[in-house]
This record gives sequence, structure tokens and C-alpha cells, in this order.
Amino acid sequence: MAHGHNSKEKVVFVGDSRVKKNSMVNIPPDFTSFPGKSEAFIPYFLLKEWMVGVVVLVGFLVLTIAHPAPLGYPADPMNAAFIPMPDWYFLFMYQLLKYPYVSGDYVVLGVMGIPGLAFGALLLAPFLDTGKERRFYRRPIASSLMLLSLISCVYLTKVSWDHYQHQLEESGTKPEHIVREEKAREAYEKGQPAPSAVKRAKPVAIVAEDDPAYGLIKQNCMACHATDLNGGSGIPALRGIGDQFSLEELHDVVTNGNGNMPAFKDKLSTAEIDQIATWLSKQKKAAE
Ligand code: HEC
Repeated sequence: MAHGHNSKEKVVFVGDSRVKKNSMVNIPPDFTSFPGKSEAFIPYFLLKEWMVGVVVLVGFLVLTIAHPAPLGYPADPMNAAFIPMPDWYFLFMYQLLKYPYVSGDYVVLGVMGIPGLAFGALLLAPFLDTGKERRFYRRPIASSLMLLSLISCVYLTKVSWDHYQHQLEESGTKPEHIVREEKAREAYEKGQPAPSAVKRAKPVAIVAEDDPAYGLIKQNCMACHATDLNGGSGIPALRGIGDQFSLEELHDVVTNGNGNMPAFKDKLSTAEIDQIATWLSKQKKAAE
């Protein structure tokens, strides 16, 4: 219709006797008739929130498909100098647990008591703090609690980080990711490909996986030589080991150990070691 909006225009609905008057009781009132009020939370507001949620979720899904998560480098089980640290946003909790009355015998207080109290209070805040006042300087209790927790989080994070730097300095270690970063930069400056981009050699297959000796390998060797027998840093792969050592040498290494490789003469019988050495000597790269 072309005659614009006229609020005084009387709208006449023509009833249809076959349509029953809606008898649902929980339909919220039309809020346009209450000036200054917004809509009912359920279902109108919630529905809008959900629609926004769905859009965000789809956005996330598109991102996860378009940009696969970057994988870090594999963990190095032999790196004893590694100092484990939580992500930065947990440093304050980490630091808290270093203090005497929230660790050791009192650790339950540290992991359940204090965080439970803090997060529980946050959860209950809408019920505890029901005042109408919105200005922060008129809400001394809520505001000072907020300031206090902000200050303590910042302080604990800082102390924790300083402590970590101190530990690194004391033990003379450089965090692994920084070492790798430096190596990558060096390679870049020399015009070489980044270390992580260097292609690994074609994997060598495991030979004779159905041999009973493979069971012995699983039990005794995989803890160090890795479940895929590809070894790790400082630990040689057992795949293709038959190309490097003779049967006698393998027998000797497993019996008497070598360097960090433990001796198995007290743990396994000679017959078992024979079996293992024979199996190892079969681990040769397939002719291509
Ligand atoms: C506690 C960890 C550990 C276990 C368990 C272990 N190894 Fe090793 N192994 C090593 C390390 C470390 C080396 C490297 C030794 C070196 O070069 O100093 C090694 C080296 C080897 C080598 C190469 C020898 C050499 O001189 O380079 C062979 C073969 C080998 N292991 C076989 C085995 C077999 C078979 C088993 C199970 C019966 C086994 N390892 C169990 C840690 C282990």
C-alpha cells in the first residue's frame, strides 16, 4: 500500500470462526506496548543469540577447514633440560601453587579451594550483586574485588615468568622452540631450506611383523625405540638396522648394551636374545 505508515489507522482483523483462539498460556506479551522494556529473554532474545552463535560456529568450521592447525615439533623424551610451563594464561594459577599453604599437604586448598571460591563467586555474581547501580565507582565491593583479582593475576603471572627466566639462566638452557627458531633463521640466512621443511627419507618398512620375536621387541624395546621403531633423538631407528650391523654385532649390542642402550643379558634369556638379534638382522631396506 502506498499511503505510508499511519498509526491512527484502525486495523480491523477479520476473524475466521474455524481458527481457534490461541489458548497457549506461555506466549510472552508483546513488548512494544511497554515503553522502555525490551523483548522477552525466552524465546526472542535467546533465538537471536543462537542465530549469532550458529553463524560464528560456521565461521569457525570454515576456518578450521581452510587453515589446518599448525603442528609443533615432536616432543623429545630424551631432553632432560626441558622445563615444563603452562600457557601464559595459566601462569598465575601455576605460580599460586608454588606457595607453601596451597601446595604439599594443602594442595587441595590450592587446586580446589581458592580457584573454586574465586570462580564460584564469579558464577554467583549475578545473584549476589543485584544492585541497579552500573557505575563502577558506586559499587565499591564489586569494583575492589575485580581490581584485587586483576592485580593478583598480573602480579602472579609476572612472578612466575621471572622465575622461569631465572631457572633457564641458572641451568643454562635455551627453550627448545627458541633453539629451533634460531636454527631455522640460520638456515634461512644461508639460503638453505628450513630444517622442518627438509624431507625425511622414504620410510623403511618393518620386516617380519608376524614373527614371535616382534612380540619381544614390543615388550622390551619400544619404550625407547618408539612404537613405530623409528627411534627418536639420540635413539637410532630399528627399522633398517640390519643394513648397519651384522647378526653378531646386534647380538652383542642387545646382550651387553652400548652407551645409553641398556644390556639385556639379565633381563632376557640367550634364546630370546638370539631370536631378537635374528629378527633385527632381517630389518633391511627393501631393494628399490
Ligand atoms: C632405555 C632405552 C632403551 C631400550 C629399552 C632399548 N634401547 Fe636400544 N638403544 C637405546 C639407545 C639410547 C641407543 C643408542 C646407543 C648409543 O649410540 O649410545 C640404542 C641403540 C640400539 C641399537 C644400535 C646399537 C648402536 O650401537 O648404535 C640397537 C640394535 C638397539 N638399540 C636395539 C635394541 C633392542 C633390540 C632393544 C630391546 C630388546 C632395545 N634396543 C631396547 C636405548 C634403548
